[in-house]
Amino acid sequence: MTIPNTIKTITCIGAGYVGGPTMAVIAQKCPHIKVNVVDINPDRIAAWNDSNLNSLPVYEPGLAEVVEEARGRNLFFSTEIDDGIREAEMIFISVNTPTKDYGLGKGMAADLKYVELCARQIARVAESDKIVVEKSTLPVRTAESIRTILEAEGNGQQFKVLSNPEFLAEGTAIADLYAPDRVLIGGEQDEEGQKSIQALADIYANWVNRENIITTRLWSSELSKLTANAFLAQRISSINAISALCEKTGADVDEIARAIGADTRIGSKFLKSSVGFGGSCFQKDILNLVYLCRHFNLPEVADYWEQVVKMNDYQKHRFAKQIIDSLFNSVSGKKIAFLGWAFKKDTNDTRESAAIYVAKELMLDKAEIHVFDPKVTKERIVEDLKNVAASKAEFKAMKKLIHFHDEPYPAMNEAHAIAILTEWDEFKTYDWSSIYNNMLKPAFVFDGRNILNSAKMDELGFRYKGVGK
Ligand code: NAD
Ligand code: UGA
Repeated sequence: MTIPNTIKTITCIGAGYVGGPTMAVIAQKCPHIKVNVVDINPDRIAAWNDSNLNSLPVYEPGLAEVVEEARGRNLFFSTEIDDGIREAEMIFISVNTPTKDYGLGKGMAADLKYVELCARQIARVAESDKIVVEKSTLPVRTAESIRTILEAEGNGQQFKVLSNPEFLAEGTAIADLYAPDRVLIGGEQDEEGQKSIQALADIYANWVNRENIITTRLWSSELSKLTANAFLAQRISSINAISALCEKTGADVDEIARAIGADTRIGSKFLKSSVGFGGSCFQKDILNLVYLCRHFNLPEVADYWEQVVKMNDYQKHRFAKQIIDSLFNSVSGKKIAFLGWAFKKDTNDTRESAAIYVAKELMLDKAEIHVFDPKVTKERIVEDLKNVAASKAEFKAMKKLIHFHDEPYPAMNEAHAIAILTEWDEFKTYDWSSIYNNMLKPAFVFDGRNILNSAKMDELGFRYKGVGK
């Protein structure tokens, strides 16, 4: 197989939250490499090409500046997937791998149909040898399936498959890509596999220290990604489990996080108790891990990891229930303001956001939900509710109960309660005294992110409840 000493052109299939920012940074840091980002979604590509940088499909601090610098120079967004495949020596697959919602493994396994389609298209279209890089998060041994498809469907070209999972977090994607804790590259142990690994490592080495580029076997790399997300989510579920005990005993979960986090063996990060983790990946990747364990007949291991997701569901439910209980056992007809809808601050992404589930539970009890989020659109929120509605009738009912606000204060005027679902910094700077004056009394604030100062809120007259307090 021909493996060039230096890669001149790469193509990334999938222009989403990972493909877009990752390729933009590669293009910025490697002006000598042409970077094509291709996608089947023409609207998404049009948004990436929009001259108005506020219209990019992904909101990430610093992203617009990177795109502005590289776009049109060596960074190109297009729907011409075949051309992108033909032109590149290295092709990244960065398409979505959602939880399967049909058939075998429904609700647990990763749906690999988009990845498979990419592999078939690469095999069909390629006119020269290619290095194919798994950027999507995939079950262990997927590279084997990709290789099988490439070999079976191809026209005699040769392929090497690498695993290069992405560890960026949304909201800090650009900072994470600039200074990753590590870049992980898995490949085959033969000479061509090692040469392919080096070709990819050389690209990252344009801005990442070589010591931070870890190379492993293919299967270790694939499984490391699922394991990393499982460990991160496990920490949140662990501290959230303790938050429930805090609420019963008078201990304060943030004080506990500080006390245990000071132990360098435990570490202080990812111990922030909350209404529950969201995002497109933690739940999906753990369920995928659980499915794999069951598949390999390891039920004890599967049950162990599944508990992380169960605890997260419990936390979201507990938060909603606390609101209903506190508002005298019914929220029917009551105005509840939601500050935040995104799954975390500094992103417009709402996938699996705790806000969606808490809102649904409150609306099943007939609450009127008034949402303000600085970055999330009304259309997105409606779509989220549609996705979780059990039936058309339930969706219709929820649509009547949900209200949207472009400004925060009207969302809270005459509200019975405020629920903080996302930790946007601006919420801390609001005039809480005037908000108090304009609310119905008693004025409840349920802080699902523990961002406000409880003593100050009490002083203003609020009935303030944080998580694990
Ligand atoms: P996304 O849904 O934002 O983007 C995926 C894109 O792929 C979409 O624009 C879709 O149109 C496109 N696509 C799907 N099939 C295609 C095909 N056959 N040809 C061309 N384009 C196609 O998803 P994402 O958040 O970028 O995640 C992508 C992968 O990266 C997932 O496996 C995810 O688990 C993983 N990941 C995500 C994050 C994150 O922060 N979002 C971080 C690390 C890893
Ligand atoms: C997470 C991982 O952090 C990334 O390394 C990984 O690449 C990515 O998933 C992925 O594979 O998609 P992300 O989901 O973007 O990144 O954001 P996180 O910062 O991990 O937050 C996830 C959720 O956990 C958010 O809802 C956040 O509010 C919540 N969280 C996080 C807590 O409740 N407490 C914490 O201490 C930390």
